[in-house]
Amino acid sequence: MARLGARLLALAAILCSSASAASKNYTSSSATVHWLGDTPSYHSGVTFGLPWPQGKYWPGKTTFSAVSDTGNIQDLQSWTTGQWADGSLKWTGHAIAGSDHIDDQYTITASSLGYTSHSPSSVRRGKSTNTIAVTESLDATTVNTGQLTVSFPKEGNIVVSAIKTAKGKTIAENGRLVLQSQNWAPDSSDSRGNASIQYSNFGSSIDEVTVNQSSVRALVTVRGKHKLTDGAAHNPWLQFVLRFYLYANSSSVKVLHSIVFDGDADKDFITGLGIRFDVPFKGEEQYNRHVRIAGVDGGIFTEAVQGITGLRRDPGEEVRTAQYEGRELPDADTWDTRVTTRLKWIPTWGDYSLTQLTADGFTLKKRTKPGQSWVKVPSGARAEGLAYLGGATQGGFAIGLRDFWKRYPSGLDISNAASATGDITLWLYSPAAEPLDLRPFHDGLGEDGYEDQLDALEITYEDYEPGFNTPYGIARTSEIYLFAFDETPTSALLADLTTYINSPPVLVPEPEYIQETQGLGGYWTVANIDSDASKLLEERLKFILDFYRTQIEQRRWYGFLDYGDFMHTYDTDRHTWRYDVGGYAWDNSELSPDLFFWMYFLRTGREDAYRFAEALTRHTGEADVYHIGDWKGLGTRHGVQHWGDSAKQARISQPQYRKYLFYLSGGDERIGELLEELLDTDKTYGILDPDRKVRTDGWSPSPNSTVAFSLGTDWSSLAAGWLIEWERRGPRWQEAKKKLTNTISGIANLTNGFVTGSGLYDPETWTLGPPPADPKNLGNVSVSHLSAVFGLPEVVSEAIAYLGDNLPDGFKDAWLDYCYYYHASAAEQKARYGVSFGSQSLYQAHSRLAAYAAYETRNTSLALRAWKDFYTGDGIAANASWSVTHVNGSASLVAVDEVEWLATNDIAQYGLAVIQNLAYIPSALDEYGS
Ligand SMILES: *[C@@H]1O[C@H](CO)[C@@H](O)[C@H](O)[C@H]1NC(C)=O
Ligand SMILES: *[C@@H]1O[C@H](CO)[C@@H](O)[C@H](O)[C@H]1NC(C)=O
Ligand SMILES: *[C@@H]1O[C@H](CO)[C@@H](O)[C@H](O)[C@H]1NC(C)=O
Ligand SMILES: *[C@@H]1O[C@H](CO)[C@@H](O)[C@H](O)[C@H]1NC(C)=O
Ligand SMILES: *[C@@H]1O[C@H](CO)[C@@H](O)[C@H](O)[C@H]1NC(C)=O
Ligand SMILES: *[C@@H]1O[C@H](CO)[C@@H](O)[C@H](O)[C@H]1NC(C)=O
Repeated sequence: MARLGARLLALAAILCSSASAASKNYTSSSATVHWLGDTPSYHSGVTFGLPWPQGKYWPGKTTFSAVSDTGNIQDLQSWTTGQWADGSLKWTGHAIAGSDHIDDQYTITASSLGYTSHSPSSVRRGKSTNTIAVTESLDATTVNTGQLTVSFPKEGNIVVSAIKTAKGKTIAENGRLVLQSQNWAPDSSDSRGNASIQYSNFGSSIDEVTVNQSSVRALVTVRGKHKLTDGAAHNPWLQFVLRFYLYANSSSVKVLHSIVFDGDADKDFITGLGIRFDVPFKGEEQYNRHVRIAGVDGGIFTEAVQGITGLRRDPGEEVRTAQYEGRELPDADTWDTRVTTRLKWIPTWGDYSLTQLTADGFTLKKRTKPGQSWVKVPSGARAEGLAYLGGATQGGFAIGLRDFWKRYPSGLDISNAASATGDITLWLYSPAAEPLDLRPFHDGLGEDGYEDQLDALEITYEDYEPGFNTPYGIARTSEIYLFAFDETPTSALLADLTTYINSPPVLVPEPEYIQETQGLGGYWTVANIDSDASKLLEERLKFILDFYRTQIEQRRWYGFLDYGDFMHTYDTDRHTWRYDVGGYAWDNSELSPDLFFWMYFLRTGREDAYRFAEALTRHTGEADVYHIGDWKGLGTRHGVQHWGDSAKQARISQPQYRKYLFYLSGGDERIGELLEELLDTDKTYGILDPDRKVRTDGWSPSPNSTVAFSLGTDWSSLAAGWLIEWERRGPRWQEAKKKLTNTISGIANLTNGFVTGSGLYDPETWTLGPPPADPKNLGNVSVSHLSAVFGLPEVVSEAIAYLGDNLPDGFKDAWLDYCYYYHASAAEQKARYGVSFGSQSLYQAHSRLAAYAAYETRNTSLALRAWKDFYTGDGIAANASWSVTHVNGSASLVAVDEVEWLATNDIAQYGLAVIQNLAYIPSALDEYGS
């Protein structure tokens, strides 16, 4: 309650400060950021994003400062992540350093300088008490945070050569990637004796190291491939990007680990993927060496390499307690000599292995050394993914993986802990698991040519085509944390760090503030429960999020590649989602659930919504999209495997889905890279014809030739990418701006605007003209229910606002017409376009288009029609029962909740309709209801 009060006060402060700023003609105002969820007990530096209203602050002429709610001035690094069309700041990224003292919220004040700077970026430094130092030598980049020093070699196979604490202790060395693969996956345990299977081991091989430094944060980016170290010959492969984030005063490092699968699914089976560090032990007594592994709910496995507890003879309580607590043991001379004389008989345990092969259980085992039997340690359900190895006097090292059990099969190995050098391996893919099998799930079923494939689509809804079910080019990003300690940390601290890696602290602005700036569009408003009708709608949106969160858990939608996604359609007979039916299984962003979940976060500020949407974006942006090769920039339609369906389309890789996390995170560099990759999507039309199976005009793609594409699903995706690049002022922003404005003019120029359905795009001149069906632009009519359900309304609304007065004439009218006429009466359609649109669908979804047009044209009868379409159109029926049914007993494999009528397509578009209708035409809801 106090917290809420504080936030409201802060909001009042924002409003007051901008009001007073206006009267004093002094442009300075502030925004408040608070922690998502509870204030964390630990953070080691955070980056966050803030939006600003158009025309207020300018890059190079604005300084930012940060003060916490208790009056502490924070060191702040600030930079521009997005600009309005006039060049003013739209989004900024900010970093604050790690600190022991964590306040609940921070006020960021922007102040305009009185002079013009020629610097295009606005990196400004607060006065620095704790800055980060980067030194470059011929062969390494070294970053010193004040608490630790990390060295990054510029070439070779070691990505981190050493991590040292401020006291000069080297606690980890030789950080390198490990990859294991084999050329065949045995079909059954009977064929394990197949002597011709070839095994290969790989390590990292660096291609490039770059560093981006400021006073508060340093980002070291290491790119490379995995190169053979031993085993059967194999080319370097599985390209990687490692992004190391280091903050001033921080004793930890965040690592974003990204790989792109560039192998052959039939002969490159990943059997292990991880990162390994050596931990030096020279001189540390065996009984002063400690192993800590996170278990369940804050539990920590607490053992020493040579245990002196539980023995037949007692070394003394002080000795035992010191070992359990990880402190240096008292001098051995002070122990009971019956123990010290027999220390040599107490085994040392050098190896430990935690394996999480499913979301439901992990095993933990240890052994003295290779060649001896493993001994089982009591295990558990969901390990939280952190391990520590170190010495009481020499310090130690911990490594953790966010969402460890959710991304099974994962693992943590500690080896050679009794030797002069121990090592610790974090497995993103555990070698104890079955090989990662990315082959197609069926053999083609004898489908011969397009005719068969289209016929099969009629029954399993899968759009199959040989050669298209390839994982070549998909990616995955994992979030890893490294920690350095001068001595063995307490288990309580390790438990805190375990919470930290699984719920990394996030600073976010108030929903009201984001809305006010329009930094993420003007098509949503903060949740409001002013009327019974809007209250009910809010409850339904909450129901959707809660239901999907529960489904993820009950249906075990977890796994290395899968986590983050959910499924498309339900099978009520079997009480299961259609995980095995061709085109129905993984959702792959179909009909924009990504937009719904992000908007739901924006309007509520709920932590669970943010974490849900973040995991979704990390999955859909990586595993459902191609990042290299001919199809780079295209996504794959929903199906049993994320990459299986032959519909490779721009609508699925829609950059708009990444935009929210990109800006809110302060410009996450991995997401930024994904957005850049998507700028080449238009090139794919020269190679792959999305309509190849249904084309009748004989057209075939060739590079640089004109292509007819949809003004809905295709253009909205391309346009989103161009707009974001323009906003970011990225390296290709002028090209992007031209492509966006040219195609906007092209659409405006079409006699029937968006109703034309498609246009002829010229990838050489970046222009868009009438489609081949209507070369003279006499007025083609081709309306598809799918055009506006992959981000088109959101992208168009943002583009119209962005271009403002420079919007090409006729474009807004073209869009308003589409919004109006999609579900106008047949007579009205005929009067306007000469023909009626016939029977369409997704009227509930399209009610938000009518709402937008009603708002823009102040048309109250259209507003009423929008609500009528929402309540009585298709989609989710007004009398649907918003409650779950529990299925248990022998009816299903495990007890589950289900909602028989619910499908992801419907809820995604329903949710977007609710949010946008409430934003544009809230008062018409009261009128409609009364
Ligand atoms: C406000 O400041 C601007 C720019 O510094 C200046 O051009 C303008 O005259 C000022 N207006 C008033 C009312 O002082
Ligand atoms: C830097 O870290 C140390 C140790 O954690 C802490 O005592 C100090 O307050 C920090 N300094 C700042 C400016 O946060
Ligand atoms: C044995 O492995 C090879 C790959 O090296 C594979 O081609 C062959 O089919 C496998 N044999 C059996 C019986 O699985
Ligand atoms: C460094 O990072 C900042 C913030 O992301 C960015 O604005 C800047 O362009 C980067 N500089 C280089 C040289 O990449
Ligand atoms: C396509 O056009 C680009 C730019 O004009 C050119 O560099 C490229 O070689 C062309 N490709 C083909 C296959 O003509
Ligand atoms: C608009 O159409 C006219 C004639 O139909 C043509 O001359 C002009 O180039 C077109 N403009 C754009 C931007 O396509």
